[in-house]
Amino acid sequence: MIFKSPAGMKDLLPEEAFLWQNLEEKAREVFALCGYQPIRTPVVEYSSLFNRSLGQETEVVRKQMFLIQREEETYCLRPEATAAVVRAYLENGLDKTNQFSKLYYLGAMFRSERPQKGRLRQFHHIGVEALGSVSPYLDAEVIALAVRLLDEFGISGYQLKLNSLGCRDDRQRLSNILRERLTPQREGLCPDCQERFSRNIFRVLDCKNEGCKNIVSGLKLECADYLCQGCAEHFARVKEGLDSLGLGYSLCGTLVRGLDYYTGSVFEISHPGLGAQDALGAGGRYDNLIRELGGPNLGAVGFALGVERLLLAAEGHKAQGTRHKIQVFVVTLGEDAKKEGFKLLDRLRKSGVSCDMDYEGKSLKGQMRRANDLGAGWTAIIGEDEIKKGIIALKDMKAGSQAEISLDNFVEEIKKMTGD
Ligand code: HAM
Repeated sequence: MIFKSPAGMKDLLPEEAFLWQNLEEKAREVFALCGYQPIRTPVVEYSSLFNRSLGQETEVVRKQMFLIQREEETYCLRPEATAAVVRAYLENGLDKTNQFSKLYYLGAMFRSERPQKGRLRQFHHIGVEALGSVSPYLDAEVIALAVRLLDEFGISGYQLKLNSLGCRDDRQRLSNILRERLTPQREGLCPDCQERFSRNIFRVLDCKNEGCKNIVSGLKLECADYLCQGCAEHFARVKEGLDSLGLGYSLCGTLVRGLDYYTGSVFEISHPGLGAQDALGAGGRYDNLIRELGGPNLGAVGFALGVERLLLAAEGHKAQGTRHKIQVFVVTLGEDAKKEGFKLLDRLRKSGVSCDMDYEGKSLKGQMRRANDLGAGWTAIIGEDEIKKGIIALKDMKAGSQAEISLDNFVEEIKKMTGD
């Protein structure tokens, strides 16, 4: 029997892993351009961190946490990184030393959902958290940054949806409006939403059931119905900021997001080509979370993009994934040559020339084929004759020409040719 990876958790073989690396490299470049610094937090956290921050009634906390019980403690595999980043920000005193911090992360998240296209149990986030400010410019920057990343990844045809949930009082007003408007239609909601209606009415707005979606789309929600003056002004400034950058968005009164920590602006970027799991990424402001996790009263905003969904949306760009090419392939003919070749590899690598050789006793033809597969610029051929003469037969794979080079000077000569 061959073991399989756990359901919803995928291997990334080299071709796909290269695509990921390209994506991650591009993301790092954009983050550096915009003044974001990297942060890495543990994959495992105390589960209470998420119970507290995401909300007891969210699907993630109720059904999707991978819990680990060890003695008296309950840990979990992190289902998202925002709460973990806020924890790290406070635990390490960044609220005191830096106060304002722009951080980014790339990493695996875990949610025990039923796997399907674009929905995994181990998936990956590329995300940012800007902590310590309530400036509406920052909301606009963060949204523009998410969009910029999609553009850099060559993804087009996405839609940006925007809403504001306002402050705690506004959320309460929104909850009352929802209750009022949904009450006459309560019977038409799915059994889960009947429960959500009493436990956390916002979650009705995220339901994927067609009947519930129809009811929700008829609610005609607008943030003007519940935002206080301060929050309405803040949201107007965010929209102004986006307009000034020429970013297109559509206002969506039913966008509330599936996690409870959001306040103020929330956004989601969807892609119609992705099917049922169409959110490429999402985020928003969470001005109460730092305080709720024991810190000062500071605002924050961020987003996370789902890497697996980015790659689905960028399917047409598969060709962008490249392989590591090597500069020199050392072809060896016979055992003595292999010994020489093995030492030569080490000398070449130590001086920064990428190289490889045959380990399986392949024929000359087989070794040349391997050199081709690895994209080698040169092959360094060592046989009995070459060892006797203290030389290497160097073949330029592109030009097809061959030259003899002394074994002693080989590294220096090849470095001249590679221009390093
Ligand atoms: P989220 O909406 O739960 O937000 O996740 C962000 C993105 O992660 C989704 O839009 C989707 O692309 C991807 N994603 C979520 N679950 C899965 C899954 N099971 N399989 C594959 N991809 C998935 C957050 O997690 C927030 N922490 C975002 C944020 C950062 N808000 C403020 N700062």
